[in-house]
Amino acid sequence: MEIGSCIFMAALRLLLCCFCWQLGAAVDTITSSQYIKDPEAVVSAGNKFKLGFFSPGNSTNRYVGIWYSNISVTTPVWIANRNKPLNDSSGIMTISEDGNIVVLDGRKEILWSSNVSNGVSNSSAQLTDDGNVILRGGEIGNSLWQSFQEPSDTFMLKMRLTANRRTGKKTQITSWKSPSDPSVGSFSSGIEPSSIPEVFVWNDSRPFWRSGPWNGQAFIGIPEMNSVYLNGYNLVQDGDGTFSLSVGLANESYITNFALSYEGRFGEMYWDSANERWEHKKQYPGDDCDIYGKCGPFGFCNTQNSLICRCLKGFEPKNSDEWNRRNWTNGCVRRRELKCERTQSDGQVPKEDEFLKLDKVKVPDFSEWSSSASEQNCKDECLNNCSCIAYSYHTGIGCMLWRGKLTDIRKFSSGGANLYVRLADLEFGKNRDMKAVICITVVTGAIIVAVGAFFWWRRMAKYRERKRESERILSSRRKKGYPIFFNGNLIQESMNQVKFQELPLFKLQMLIAATDYFDAANKLGEGGFGPVYRGNLPDGQEIAVKRLSRASGQGQEEFMNEVVVISELQHKNLVRLLGCCVEGDEKMLVYEYMPNKSLDASLFDPVRKEVLDWKKRFNIVDGICRGLLYLHRDSRLRIIHRDLKPSNILLDQELNPKISDFGMARIFGGNEDHVKTRRVVGTYGYMSPEYAMHGRFSEKSDVFSFGVLLLEIVSGRRSTKIDGNEQGLNLLEFAWKLWNEGNAPALVDPALTLDQYSKVEIFRCIHVGLLCVQEFAKDRPAISTIISMLNSEIVDLPLPNNPAYTERLIGLHTERRGDSINFVSTTLFTGR
Ligand SMILES: *[C@@H]1O[C@H](CO)[C@@H](O)[C@H](O)[C@H]1NC(C)=O
Ligand SMILES: *[C@@H]1O[C@H](CO)[C@@H](O)[C@H](O)[C@H]1NC(C)=O
Ligand SMILES: *[C@@H]1O[C@H](CO)[C@@H](O)[C@H](O)[C@H]1NC(C)=O
Ligand SMILES: *[C@@H]1O[C@H](CO)[C@@H](O)[C@H](O)[C@H]1NC(C)=O
Ligand SMILES: *[C@@H]1O[C@H](CO)[C@@H](O)[C@H](O)[C@H]1NC(C)=O
Ligand SMILES: *[C@@H]1O[C@H](CO)[C@@H](O)[C@H](O)[C@H]1NC(C)=O
Ligand SMILES: *[C@@H]1O[C@H](CO)[C@@H](O)[C@H](O)[C@H]1NC(C)=O
Ligand SMILES: *[C@@H]1O[C@H](CO)[C@@H](O)[C@H](O)[C@H]1NC(C)=O
Ligand SMILES: *[C@@H]1O[C@H](CO)[C@@H](O)[C@H](O)[C@H]1NC(C)=O
Repeated sequence: MEIGSCIFMAALRLLLCCFCWQLGAAVDTITSSQYIKDPEAVVSAGNKFKLGFFSPGNSTNRYVGIWYSNISVTTPVWIANRNKPLNDSSGIMTISEDGNIVVLDGRKEILWSSNVSNGVSNSSAQLTDDGNVILRGGEIGNSLWQSFQEPSDTFMLKMRLTANRRTGKKTQITSWKSPSDPSVGSFSSGIEPSSIPEVFVWNDSRPFWRSGPWNGQAFIGIPEMNSVYLNGYNLVQDGDGTFSLSVGLANESYITNFALSYEGRFGEMYWDSANERWEHKKQYPGDDCDIYGKCGPFGFCNTQNSLICRCLKGFEPKNSDEWNRRNWTNGCVRRRELKCERTQSDGQVPKEDEFLKLDKVKVPDFSEWSSSASEQNCKDECLNNCSCIAYSYHTGIGCMLWRGKLTDIRKFSSGGANLYVRLADLEFGKNRDMKAVICITVVTGAIIVAVGAFFWWRRMAKYRERKRESERILSSRRKKGYPIFFNGNLIQESMNQVKFQELPLFKLQMLIAATDYFDAANKLGEGGFGPVYRGNLPDGQEIAVKRLSRASGQGQEEFMNEVVVISELQHKNLVRLLGCCVEGDEKMLVYEYMPNKSLDASLFDPVRKEVLDWKKRFNIVDGICRGLLYLHRDSRLRIIHRDLKPSNILLDQELNPKISDFGMARIFGGNEDHVKTRRVVGTYGYMSPEYAMHGRFSEKSDVFSFGVLLLEIVSGRRSTKIDGNEQGLNLLEFAWKLWNEGNAPALVDPALTLDQYSKVEIFRCIHVGLLCVQEFAKDRPAISTIISMLNSEIVDLPLPNNPAYTERLIGLHTERRGDSINFVSTTLFTGR
């Protein structure tokens, strides 16, 4: 009995296998006798792709195309009859008598044909596992045609985009008209075969975005581009002058491709199988400055400026009315003629032109390659040729020269290249007329003094008026039991030393109304030197009001410090100070309101942390980096924050991070390397050892705190909490232990689900985090390097040395300050 059923099962299995085999052999191929009819499809041998009839988006039209067979969302990567849809289900795809692969409608009319007139009669078309349809025919089954030669909107692995400079022959991708209409839209993308090739997106024939020149490994106008993100991206030129671009990922076990959206944005997508949806890596153009020629000729685009376009130094708007109306299309013109153009009528020999250096930029379009083999030769070649107006020397490319106009220059925060723009020597202001300078200075000075005096007089009058007013309000509240902070005349004096002119003043009355008399229900938390309240201004704007608590002189000092530091700063990753209020004995700071509170409130909360998926966390890391870079390097001042920690990172509506609490920040002198202080303030668990032990701080002590923060974000646990593991280790010790055991993945927050891309990113973050918390400050990377590391511009990271374990700083006499600890004495330190 049992044996009988066994034999039966075996026979069944054999039968099924045979059936499968037969099916498998035939099912990926179309011949004249084996055609497909709506709604059928053929499947590639490895079940990766399907070729058949479908309807895109909301359309009811029928198209023949190729899509991924194994994912839940029908994603066409190629379409045959994209411009001639079927309006019913009568269509078939077959091999015609002349050997072409064709799509026919119900009346046997040809809607689409591969159109290689060859007369081969018995050809066949096969769908491969790369998503390519190959038409073969003739005696030996030559490939006559492939769908990869005529791509739609998708650039796939194994495909090639090509362009020939001489013949003008191109293979490029073209966008759809709309999500439901795959007919050829106005955008296309492919290679521009100039002397140094680039990738372009065109809107009809006008350039819409460009990648910047290819340097042999990457496009230098895409700072994010690197070998992890675009592994195996390659652009080569073959013997007959055809450039061809291909991309191959090292790990092909996940689904990915590059597509041009109907809105003209080109970028990589990958299938997130956990969430069953497509995710985009960065798309181009990404921001306004990415748009080709945004600022016109000789304009310079920088998204960090409030008005993104400026003229290059030495240039002025061609039409200033238009320019002021933010119509930048006409760009700028040169202010002073170059040496070559100047007539020598005054008998003097004109001075040689000089070059203005612009660093980290996307170099302009229309570069010409020159064989000059060093930066100096490149410069000389440019200087000696009157038609040359700029040069750039980039390893991997060599010398690039420009003539005519400089179009499409933008600033990057990292990456890019150095560009040298030729200007008349007078632009460099060395031999300006001293008399004029003095004259202007004196006149301006006098005006400033007069205006200043006038405003001071006005302010004093107003101030007296307001003081009377607020005293009246406060005394009326006092009777109702509203708490009044005691008077600090001390602050009043120091307040007067600060230039408050730049900072909007809020009336006390207004803030009292906004916060409903500082109602406890509106209290958001306790900041460094007092409570913070949420408020609503009459115009509906939400604000956060930080109110200086009575308490110590230290709080007052920090209040002043914060005013001085933050009123000088403006960056999208720093919390914005809207104004302040100094009336009577009340001192308050008014900030923009951050609806998502501080990072620790989300990161360490088992429920709220669900919101912070890896993409968001990485965005937060990136934002903090940019904020820090601004503090350390790019702002007018050089600032060390000294108290970076999750509770000082606020999150806005979209969970973008903003660094806050500058109560302890220190402004550095221009050439100071580090500073020593006797008063060590900071927070347990985030302080670098040299600061905690010796009171020495520098950018590298912020880097240390950032490293701790980074490891916290990756692991979702507090640096100081030691019950997360059995061994009783703090976060740094735990991370270091896992790292040495080669078990870094165990550090990752279990709440995170990761796909292949995120894994690479997250391990890179752990690596960088450990580099930041190294014991010796000199080993830690600078914040600019960290940004490059996180974005994988630097591929080979050094190995980290052991971290500093700040938890060993036992025996310190500490004093609590909010949730921070103030190390009053550093002499009690016992060594490690
Ligand atoms: C299909 O139609 C619905 C409702 O009109 C719309 O919300 C959706 O975006 C459309 N989808 C596409 C792909 O156009
Ligand atoms: C199809 O997808 C499923 C899960 O998404 C996977 O387990 C399976 O291996 C895939 N099959 C092929 C042939 O790729
Ligand atoms: C479908 O298209 C054909 C022409 O290709 C046209 O003759 C026919 O009327 C259309 N049918 C419908 C229902 O629109
Ligand atoms: C086939 O190619 C010829 C010339 O090469 C062209 O004129 C014709 O329009 C093409 N037909 C189709 C259906 O693409
Ligand atoms: C085409 O037909 C010829 C003879 O008629 C035969 O030798 C050849 O193998 C066939 N090719 C294919 C691809 O079927
Ligand atoms: C593309 O060009 C068309 C025609 O000039 C224009 O109307 C459209 O705004 C352009 N699209 C974009 C995204 O710039
Ligand atoms: C490729 O990814 C798969 C999982 O998606 C993984 O198992 C495999 O080890 C990876 N291969 C390489 C060479 O990284
Ligand atoms: C900008 O100026 C150009 C040239 O004067 C003009 O053609 C164009 O319409 C203007 N654009 C806008 C948005 O005003
Ligand atoms: C200047 O450069 C242009 C091309 O960049 C070249 O055609 C011309 O001959 C050069 N002139 C001199 C004097 O070298």
